[in-house]
Amino acid sequence: MLKSKDLLGLYSLSAEEITEILDGAEEMKRMLESGGKRSELLKGKTLVTLFYENSTRTRTSFELAGKYLGAHEVNISVATSSVQKGETLIDTGETLDSLKIDFIAIRHPMAGAPALLAKHVKASVLNGGDGMHEHPTQALLDMFTLREHYGRIAGLKVAILGDIKHSRVAMSNLFGLRKLGAEVYMYSPSTMMPKELEKLGAHIASSREEAVDGADAVMGLRIQLERMNGGLFPSLGEYARYFGVNDGVMKYAKKDAVILHPGPVNRGVELTPALIDGDRSLILGQVTNGLAVRMSALRLLSQYRENNNL
Ligand code: CP
Repeated sequence: MLKSKDLLGLYSLSAEEITEILDGAEEMKRMLESGGKRSELLKGKTLVTLFYENSTRTRTSFELAGKYLGAHEVNISVATSSVQKGETLIDTGETLDSLKIDFIAIRHPMAGAPALLAKHVKASVLNGGDGMHEHPTQALLDMFTLREHYGRIAGLKVAILGDIKHSRVAMSNLFGLRKLGAEVYMYSPSTMMPKELEKLGAHIASSREEAVDGADAVMGLRIQLERMNGGLFPSLGEYARYFGVNDGVMKYAKKDAVILHPGPVNRGVELTPALIDGDRSLILGQVTNGLAVRMSALRLLSQYRENNNL
């Protein structure tokens, strides 16, 4: 059983809760693969997607997850909503609550915005990415993809390379992977590496090769130009040459190591196109798994709501 009405981050979830979401996603994936897109598990419930930042994968898969489980699904376009008239996040949340919404999937540029919203609404809030803080469903789908491929998470070496500083995906993966017993190695230009990540359980490598050496999985992270004030690396070309992942770097990983990336990818910057499209890439599978993971999260939160008369 999940212990909270909301899914805000993996820092606050136990290994048991994470495993329960992954186990549920396995069931959801079997259902999807057998053509089951008409479940009634969330019949009569309503899901709102409220995205203050752009998204393709997360928003679409939350919307489809709600639809496939039988919920009503409404997307609020922030660009054409009353947010543009200055409505606050809390007022927007209380307005949605008054419309008897059950779930709000939110993406927001401010770290902590989903937690603030969750405190003020009866609906269950699912964090679809908040600033540089957490992106829990992305990390859950990454872990689901690794578990599906290797049959386990414990004991895997996962190398995460790229813009660690601005990456909510890196943070959520670090929390989740460590809780399930993986070793997490990180590497980025020093200007993109936050201080004291070791205290959270990361190994900070001093080169790409050290990070990737013996890895079971290599995860590239997007250079988040929108969160930078500039000047963190000389040029995209130099970034690719000195910090990107290519065939030469992958020689240090295990022979069958897999490639992950949360997307969207800057092709030829974080990863070479050959690696993105190659046999070892699980990137498109990650997208499919995102649907199963979000279905599982919605279902478990719905059970929490029923058990707690929400
Ligand atoms: N990985 C991810 O969050 O992608 P979107 O920005 O397309 O949702």
